[in-house]
Amino acid sequence: MDHKSLKDTIRPYLPLAVINFYRYLRDHYYKYILPFVIRALYEFRAAINRIRERNGHSKLQKLGNTKEFNIEKLLSENWVDFKTDVHPKDRRMNILSKGLVKGMSTENIAFFINEIVKTIACKGVYLEVGTFNGYSLLSAALYNPSTRCIGIDNFSQFDLEHKNEILLCANLRKFGNPKNIQFYNMDYREGVNYLFSKETNLKVDVYYYDGEHSYENQLEGLRVMLPHLSEKCVIFVDDTNRESVTKANRDFVAEHADFKTIFKINTKRNGSPNWWNGFEIITRAF
Ligand SMILES: C[S@@+](CC[C@H](N)C(=O)[O-])C[C@H]1O[C@@H](n2cnc3c(N)ncnc32)[C@H](O)[C@@H]1O
Repeated sequence: MDHKSLKDTIRPYLPLAVINFYRYLRDHYYKYILPFVIRALYEFRAAINRIRERNGHSKLQKLGNTKEFNIEKLLSENWVDFKTDVHPKDRRMNILSKGLVKGMSTENIAFFINEIVKTIACKGVYLEVGTFNGYSLLSAALYNPSTRCIGIDNFSQFDLEHKNEILLCANLRKFGNPKNIQFYNMDYREGVNYLFSKETNLKVDVYYYDGEHSYENQLEGLRVMLPHLSEKCVIFVDDTNRESVTKANRDFVAEHADFKTIFKINTKRNGSPNWWNGFEIITRAF
């Protein structure tokens, strides 16, 4: 049989073959093919995410500086059970404990800070009161080289041997003295006053108050930053196990209707491996 006659032989059967193939697809679509296609797409997406995470990126990084973040999505994508897990799925902030940077914080909190700063302040400003040895300041600054990260601490607490500023500098050196970090050894009121009288238009996208936690300082620590926060902003507060902190945050939110608490978790005790002594996120315009 030559080439031409083979084609001629097949041709009459072709319509029937196409019809049968169509029928097969139609009858097996839901049972076999649809699950297969969904599974393949899911695996493809997971593979892309694994590559991005291996390269130090996170799924939310694609949001860049769009100032869009969704707390439920952040929690469900990054923890199996955020309430009990002692670290997120993405272990990038493990770099701090590997570098022996000790803080009054946890890897969950470090990741939270890093990811939220990346999402809403990747080219913006992060300011922190209560820098201590630098754990949380580094949590904001690492992997976020375009975020200006400002720390303020007067070393008035937990520093009987007067070594905390030296330890802070040593910890920053371990990471090559990140150029995006600025530090002021000052009382937070003085520091804020000094900074914003020099740079009157400076606005802070993410603010972390982790200074002294009496009711008065907690409330003052939030109020003092009000004129300097971006319209869309995030405030972190820790030590929410303490009634003085919870009450001050509640009163702050009550007196400023545009702010709301979007996340709060308390822990069994101070120093808990999941969320230390409790953590809260307050936002405006998200
Ligand atoms: C709980 S520690 C902060 C822990 C730190 N954020 C970390 O990641 O490990 C509280 C810090 O707030 C500082 N602090 C207390 N009162 C302050 C004030 N009035 N002005 C600036 N810093 C203050 C203390 O010196 C102390 O280092």
